[in-house]
Amino acid sequence: MVKIFLDTANVSEVKYAADIGLIEGCTTNPTLIMKEGRDYNETLVEICNIVNGPVSAETVALDAEGMVREGEAFAKLHKNIIIKVPMTQQGMKACRLLTAKGIRVNVTLCFQANQALLAAKAGAFIISPFIGRLDDISQDGMQLIRDIRQIYDNYGFGTQILAASIRHPIHVLESAKAGANIATLPFKVWEQLFQHPLTDKGIKQFLDDWEKVPKKK
Ligand code: E4P
Repeated sequence: MVKIFLDTANVSEVKYAADIGLIEGCTTNPTLIMKEGRDYNETLVEICNIVNGPVSAETVALDAEGMVREGEAFAKLHKNIIIKVPMTQQGMKACRLLTAKGIRVNVTLCFQANQALLAAKAGAFIISPFIGRLDDISQDGMQLIRDIRQIYDNYGFGTQILAASIRHPIHVLESAKAGANIATLPFKVWEQLFQHPLTDKGIKQFLDDWEKVPKKK
């Protein structure tokens, strides 16, 4: 089943989606927390206390030792935290080291299927192919999801495929059809999943007709 995560560091958005009950995890990154203008750790803890699922916290060190140090500190904040490391050689080393310590890793900034193969070999819990950013440069982001699905299925890798950099509901639909395990959505796209003009039109018509139904006092 495809899980729905929110791609945000905005606590109000997380609260809202959690209240509706349709959010199974959350992804954050330095850009998203920069937009909030808040302390990262404090925000992560607040999100973890709302979301009953993995919450990704991203490291910024470029060397494996630094990533491990940052990852261990994040992991101490809450049991829901999982650690994002970039898809680099040092990132793969950090992935292996953190995984060996029992800390779950989300390998981020994946743009080709070979990178996903390496991340799975390094023990990644999640791989994050960025489909929107590939579409932006006229490459087929969705084909990347299909390729990774095929490779993981061929060899029985348990690494979960998280469709990231999602721009619109069609990305969500196609990711689910391609067998992604998770889709992480900006709040706007999460809201769009619920909507259809015929739903609104239908509700209005039912309410208008209900007004015309004779009712006993
Ligand atoms: C995923 O974990 C990333 O935070 C995110 O999806 C990046 O998306 P963007 O390309 O919209 O920045």
